[in-house]
Amino acid sequence: MTQIQSPNDVVSVPQAVALGCTYDDVPYPSYPVAASHPDRLYSVARLFGLKPVPPEHARILEIGCAGGGNIMPVASQFPNSTCVGIELSQVQVDDAFIANKLVGIKNIQIKQGSVADITPEFGKFDYIICHGVFSWVPEFVREAILKVSSQNLSENGVAYISYNTLPGWYFRGMIRQMLLRHVRDIDDPRKKIEQARALLGFLVTANESQNTPHAAYLRGEAEFLSRQPDTYLFHEHLEEFNNAFFFEDFIADATKHGLQYLGESNLAVMWNGSFPAETRQTLETITNPVKSGHYADCIAGRTFRQTLLVHQGLSISRKLGKDHLEGVRVLGKFTPVAPPQMQSGATDPREKSYKTLGDHTMTTTQPVCHAIMESMTNVFPGSLSIDELYAEIENRAAEDLKRGNIAQKDILATMVQWMLAGYIEFRFDGDRLTTKFDGKPTVTSWARTQALANRYVTTLRHEIITVSEVHRQVIPFLDGTRDINGIANEIKLLVDLGMMDINLKSQKSDLKAKDLPLSVAKQIVWDLGQFGLLQAPTAA
Ligand SMILES: C[S@@+](CC[C@H](N)C(=O)[O-])C[C@H]1O[C@@H](n2cnc3c(N)ncnc32)[C@H](O)[C@@H]1O
Repeated sequence: MTQIQSPNDVVSVPQAVALGCTYDDVPYPSYPVAASHPDRLYSVARLFGLKPVPPEHARILEIGCAGGGNIMPVASQFPNSTCVGIELSQVQVDDAFIANKLVGIKNIQIKQGSVADITPEFGKFDYIICHGVFSWVPEFVREAILKVSSQNLSENGVAYISYNTLPGWYFRGMIRQMLLRHVRDIDDPRKKIEQARALLGFLVTANESQNTPHAAYLRGEAEFLSRQPDTYLFHEHLEEFNNAFFFEDFIADATKHGLQYLGESNLAVMWNGSFPAETRQTLETITNPVKSGHYADCIAGRTFRQTLLVHQGLSISRKLGKDHLEGVRVLGKFTPVAPPQMQSGATDPREKSYKTLGDHTMTTTQPVCHAIMESMTNVFPGSLSIDELYAEIENRAAEDLKRGNIAQKDILATMVQWMLAGYIEFRFDGDRLTTKFDGKPTVTSWARTQALANRYVTTLRHEIITVSEVHRQVIPFLDGTRDINGIANEIKLLVDLGMMDINLKSQKSDLKAKDLPLSVAKQIVWDLGQFGLLQAPTAA
């Protein structure tokens, strides 16, 4: 059996080819996936009554970690955790290795090798993450993923596996089959991609005046693919392997490896918040969550799942009783939008609409709801405990609270409904980020290094954002050694050297030129807090 090799060792090309490795030719851009972050897995496990290990000192394994864009920010955020990535493609392992030469994260190892070679001696992990791999590998590797997710999972560990889902993926599979057939005689991956895009354009043009379901689907998929990078098109549609699975079959296979279904990383998927009430009620009569999940997939035409698994024998309770909610914190951002016209044409003046975190629209006339939304938005991306939220609501909607006689437990129940609908998020423990910038503000080593190279940085919400050029230039200084005056000094130096472009025009009219660097430093650090880039002092 091939041994797992260190980042410096070189895998032989025939081995990579035999395992179906095309990622050396077309490496996959490696991004953070918020749904796979151990914080999310921890929260779902806690909500369902389990006792997962807190991520900050957990052992975390990512299978198929590509260039490390998902696991490395986690390691950088949790210096007391132990993170291991395993990746087949040497090119991508080298990328991760070089990146870490710059970042210097101590608690991570990225190893070149196949998941199929992982043995029990590799150790146990509290979180095993496998995103975007399961559907794209041959059957023996899928078996290995499930085996490792059980064999190498600690007692209270949580495994995350994402995969393309049927029946929704059958439609996408039609596109894949057309593209695959069209490029079957082409070897060069670049030419394959070019020809696949050409065929899509041809099909859409040919259907321009058609009103059929087929034409509508083609238009939608072509539009979707036109927004995706070539790497996505290649690995999704032009790869040899891409299998989709019925949810029930995936769970049946996991069961053979001693695992059981915990839930979805995105809980709103399990509670079917977007379905009509009647549909939800019917689904709720099906007590087996895997069975009801299958019917939900049929209704929604779901194409992808991010499923969490734990060892069989652990007692899961999905009731979300009060004891499971002990210590829960809520976070959400509500952006006001124009309310939809009521059907009669008249609008209720108290009616307000908001866009929520999951890009849903919420419309309400209830002052208490307005107060909840304002309170949460005010501290976002930070969170509030239920006590803190209640105190905020008492301030903002005291009269309404008295009139409606709303108790704290009603607020908690409302928060559960909003969370299940996907409007807000729950987390346990304190915030790992802060919006305040007293002391010496800190950004993770991963984000600081990203900012040295480009304007895309990973936030503590595990999302990539694009920052302005000036923000990019300032971020590397936030390594915890400078207070706001120290940051202002660095800004002044860059301005004096002609390397930073800031001017008085964008500032308050009475500001003196000598005070500009400090004013800019305060503004930028405040912005970074709002973006979710500033580490809370305990997490630093
Ligand atoms: C679609 S990419 C997803 C990468 C990353 N997880 C993400 O979501 O961005 C699939 C990755 O799995 C890796 N892979 C394929 N077979 C593997 C195996 N047998 N063992 C470990 N990694 C493998 C590929 O090289 C590739 O980097």
